[in-house]
Amino acid sequence: MASDTQRVQAAVLPPEGERRRDFLYIATGAFAAVGAGAVVWPMINQMNPSADVLALAAIDVDLASVQPGQAIKVSWRGKPVFARRLTADEISAANKVDVASLRDPQTLADRTKPGKAEWLITLGVCTHLGCVPLGAGTGEVRGDFGGYFCPCHGSHYDTAARVRKGPAPRNLEVPQYVFKSDTSVTIG
Ligand code: FES
Repeated sequence: MASDTQRVQAAVLPPEGERRRDFLYIATGAFAAVGAGAVVWPMINQMNPSADVLALAAIDVDLASVQPGQAIKVSWRGKPVFARRLTADEISAANKVDVASLRDPQTLADRTKPGKAEWLITLGVCTHLGCVPLGAGTGEVRGDFGGYFCPCHGSHYDTAARVRKGPAPRNLEVPQYVFKSDTSVTIG
């Protein structure tokens, strides 16, 4: 005959088969959670930039040797960047343009740093389909407006690297940068 304690246990605990099944469910769930964690960690870890990628996130560019009318090309995050030192005439030509008439209305001041109008730093990537425009290299054609010319489909940019003619929809993009000194910048 069952004691009082045995009767209470029988009333509270499910039959042996159900308890075993619950344990299996719980054990499987715990394994799945650990398994998911084990998969997610390498994926997150893979998404962290490696040291060499971090090093390329920002670059220092020395502009000291760039004379008025010249430009240099550097590579930043896999893209060409043009750093151009405008002449007084090029600055004046850019400032004479009626901004309202532009496809992508921006002043030269919008595209340069305060007090640094002679330094025009842009991506060297045409905003039409991504070709590298001409005009930064010595002797390269600079198009009808004296800035850059994209030979792929004939986009012309002016001395503020604003699109003036051709299929490009926007001005050459100005990346984030800061002047570290009068003649050096950090891009990125
Ligand atoms: S990619 Fe420059 S004009 Fe088409």
